Amino acid sequence: MSEKLREINGIDFAVADLGLAEAGRIQLRLAEHEMPGLMAIRAEYAAAQPLKGARVAGSLHMTVQTAVLIETLVALGAEVRWVSCNIFSTQDEAAAAVVVGPEGTVERPQGTSVFAWKGETLDEYWWCTDQLFRFPGGKTPNMILDDGGDATLLVHKGVEFEAAGAVPLAADDEPEEYRIILRTLAESLAADGQRFTRMATDIRGVTEETTNGVKRLYKLARDGELLFPAMNVNDSVTKSKFDNKYGIRHSLVDGLNRATDVMIGGKQVVVCGYGDVGKGAVEALRGQGARVAVTEIDPICALQASMDGLDVVELDDVLERGDIFITTTGNFNIIMADQLARMKHNAIVANVGHFDNEIDMAGLAKIPGITKTEIKPQVHEWRFSDGHAIIVLSEGRLMNLGNATGHPSFVMSNSFTNQAIAQIELFGKPGQYATEVHRLPKQLDEKVARLHLDALGVRLTKLTKEQADYIGVDVEGPYKLEHYRY
Ligand code: NAI
Repeated sequence: MSEKLREINGIDFAVADLGLAEAGRIQLRLAEHEMPGLMAIRAEYAAAQPLKGARVAGSLHMTVQTAVLIETLVALGAEVRWVSCNIFSTQDEAAAAVVVGPEGTVERPQGTSVFAWKGETLDEYWWCTDQLFRFPGGKTPNMILDDGGDATLLVHKGVEFEAAGAVPLAADDEPEEYRIILRTLAESLAADGQRFTRMATDIRGVTEETTNGVKRLYKLARDGELLFPAMNVNDSVTKSKFDNKYGIRHSLVDGLNRATDVMIGGKQVVVCGYGDVGKGAVEALRGQGARVAVTEIDPICALQASMDGLDVVELDDVLERGDIFITTTGNFNIIMADQLARMKHNAIVANVGHFDNEIDMAGLAKIPGITKTEIKPQVHEWRFSDGHAIIVLSEGRLMNLGNATGHPSFVMSNSFTNQAIAQIELFGKPGQYATEVHRLPKQLDEKVARLHLDALGVRLTKLTKEQADYIGVDVEGPYKLEHYRY
């Protein structure tokens, strides 16, 4: 149990400092103005209360923007508990503001239970995640809102081990984090051998935010192990083609600047992966005047990169030349320890893919004679025995959230409006969605976009009935066939 755990006015929570709530509230007010989609959803559904009765367990970076999402879910009737999905991504003032709530005070909070602070240990991270499932009065969630799939993973592993009656021993080569998950589940099993099994039958569904979490869900579905319906929010066009691309275009450079303030123009940058996130990263870096090379395994994305005027290289070709290396693949073992050792003095290495296994941090720490010096939180110099060094940001975890504050409000409004609509769909239509992975209908995707046009002064051309008939769509949309790629 964390010593941060407190309960005031019936709200249990664990945050860095509740006294930051007022500072957080001011930021929330600014964010609300920049999140027209979420605010429109609040207005549209205020009376209907479509999430009344929903108990939402949310695991998603506890930022100012997420705070606006949480308060939207509450405004729609939901009871909510929240954790961050990354140990470095919490904005402590946002966490405090959510606990206090719009009407509460630090002495008498009236908001939502949050268990998150910037700089959790992995033990604390999984303790927090377990708190998600402990609603007051012994209740458990009936909805999950996930980013990366850790909350969903805990429930699925919990059910699996409860069925087996025991938690397996970790293999010798298993990462430390998996041992912590096993320990968390062993403690749960010892206290209540059916806790997750009961919970899983109550859960109407999960709405998943990111590429990596979605991959986990499709795998569970493929293996016949998915326990409840899932909504793939990431692949709404107004999510992945906006947040992943335009969001990273903003927050990657923000993270680099805050962490190092190194001049980006003129530098040789290597971006691993040219998917949605990679494309946004490259655009931002080129905008700063960097020379950018890309690595890819997919011939289509490699060709795209080449047609966009980029060098497409193998990592080993550019190790000694690169000034900045950014991983965006959602895959693992992208930059290994021996490759880190070959980089030039003070090369900067950072990751914006969801998990921390793109850069081989464990291997780096094991290099004989290596030393690690903290330049400032989430910025470390790793010095090799020959005297040269590299700079690693956020210990290989999402640096745009660890070194900066993630994506800006406007783009997150698109993502989170999808989340809110997906929660309403899955909660409001129990039994109508099979236990599979679904996407929101295209018309709702178009609705999310529509809700963001006025704020930007966009004047949309209205399709005439004759034109609609000519291209074979409805005047009100959807305007594209399902396979259209944007
Ligand atoms: P994506 O699938 O569109 O792009 C990933 C690209 O990496 C693909 O084109 C793939 O072919 C390539 N790739 C895979 N293995 C590779 C390897 N060994 N070497 C070089 N390239 C390789 O996925 P997306 O949407 O771009 O997401 C990437 C990651 O970023 C995911 O982990 C996702 O969860 C995360 N993400 C992070 C955000 C942030 O704020 N930092 C925001 C949104 C997504």
